[in-house]
Amino acid sequence: MKNIKLVIVKNYEEMSLKAFEIFQEQVKNGSLNFGMATGSTPLGLYSLIKEDYKSNKTYENLNYFNLDEYHGIDRNHPESYYQFMKDNLFNEINASNCFIPDASLPITDCICEYQKILDNTQIDLQILGIGNNGHIGFNEPPTSFDIQTNYVKLNNSTRQANKRFFNNNIDEVPEYAVTMGIKDILRAKKIVLMANGENKATAIYQMLFEEPTEQLPASALQLHNDVTVIIDYKAASKLPLNTLGIDISSTRIKVATFNSDYKRIKYEVLPHNNTDIYDKMLGMVKEQLTDEIYNVGLSISGYVREGLVSHPLINFDNFPIKEKLEQAINRRVVLMNRANASAFAEYKLTMDNNESLYYISLATGIGGGYIANGDIVSGKNGLGGEICNMVIDSHQFFDDFYADGSIEMHYNTYKLTHNEKLFIKQIGIVIANIINTVDPDKIIVDVKNTEIDKSITKKIEEKTNALLYSQKKNYINITGSLVEDESLIGAAIYANKL
Ligand code: F6R
Repeated sequence: MKNIKLVIVKNYEEMSLKAFEIFQEQVKNGSLNFGMATGSTPLGLYSLIKEDYKSNKTYENLNYFNLDEYHGIDRNHPESYYQFMKDNLFNEINASNCFIPDASLPITDCICEYQKILDNTQIDLQILGIGNNGHIGFNEPPTSFDIQTNYVKLNNSTRQANKRFFNNNIDEVPEYAVTMGIKDILRAKKIVLMANGENKATAIYQMLFEEPTEQLPASALQLHNDVTVIIDYKAASKLPLNTLGIDISSTRIKVATFNSDYKRIKYEVLPHNNTDIYDKMLGMVKEQLTDEIYNVGLSISGYVREGLVSHPLINFDNFPIKEKLEQAINRRVVLMNRANASAFAEYKLTMDNNESLYYISLATGIGGGYIANGDIVSGKNGLGGEICNMVIDSHQFFDDFYADGSIEMHYNTYKLTHNEKLFIKQIGIVIANIINTVDPDKIIVDVKNTEIDKSITKKIEEKTNALLYSQKKNYINITGSLVEDESLIGAAIYANKL
């Protein structure tokens, strides 16, 4: 793992784009020799190259060397790799210097000829996919790391995986292939391996975290000093990565490192004075940042829209906190409203996947989030306020319904005690209307850390009950929050979700 640069992205498109950026960079730097792969994984990259070719003809003049070729089917068979590369890349970019093992020759000639080509070439960038069984090229496990171009019998699992290209009929999938060897692959100056989807997750885990072994051909990449692995979240789902959670309330900043079971392994809390929040937070984050951290979840009270935060109490007005932090720490930052983060944590850690939850926190401000179908509900236009607008008289009490999927109000609930009756009435209206409309399985009213202690939830319950449609009477049973530091851990969990 030490040598390998790991990039985790959201989906196949992002994976292809990242690989394309590296490819382009190499082309710009004057590299000429590119090692290519076939299969589904690199198709997105090849589309981007074809698109770029429209305005950048350089691709015509590069030299392309493919990893492997089936043996036993004609070169002109639609699924030969020779044909695959022509159809999916070479024809459209008018590439003429393309090398693929010619398995129509007698096998020893095919191997000798291709090895000769490779021996006279320094591949600048090698593109790789990975098999479910950890193969690279068609080097099936177990394979020697010392092997060069060779003739291989394909494993049953590989033929099963590839039968989708052969009318789903395993009998049509060739049993043998010719492939560059591990030694040839490791000779490339730079290697980019891409993988997407859950079926690659085990191989990716073994490749990165287990000792190099011939049982897992891709683990040989640990022996190379310039490998970038670009994978989507699904392919990363078995990796024991840490996540950084950041939680900014109107009084404190919390930063914690969570392991892959969401156990806190580092934790720091500092009060802030509303002026130096960003810098203070950045300092705390840098203290905890390690190579094992790929995702950062940031929950913040205030209005959160498209990476911007507004919050009068902490002096942010459309502050681009996501972009600034991403640049400063070179990690992906998932920004979210604090009440949403709390709601998400409560739901993830205490409820069943198919249940729904409405969460309201009555702390320094008032916030709320609605979770259904396993996710934060953002309303039709991404504004959670839509869900609440229909239930609250915005001129009287809740006048800010803005943040994605949440209600958000900068109001000091401590001050509400002087008008407790109005407060209870308004919260009762909110909850009753939520139940009357979206009907969640559970309602949490969190009054942690407020002076309006738990006794208030009883009164809110009574008020709410009085306002419910008759068929929902006595439905309400408000529970307090069950999770510790819910907005902090919620941000961390959500950061890994996307
Ligand atoms: C193909 C190759 C193979 C594939 C691997 C993954 O040239 O070298 O190692 O990269 O079998 O295939 P896909 O991308 O179809 O999942």
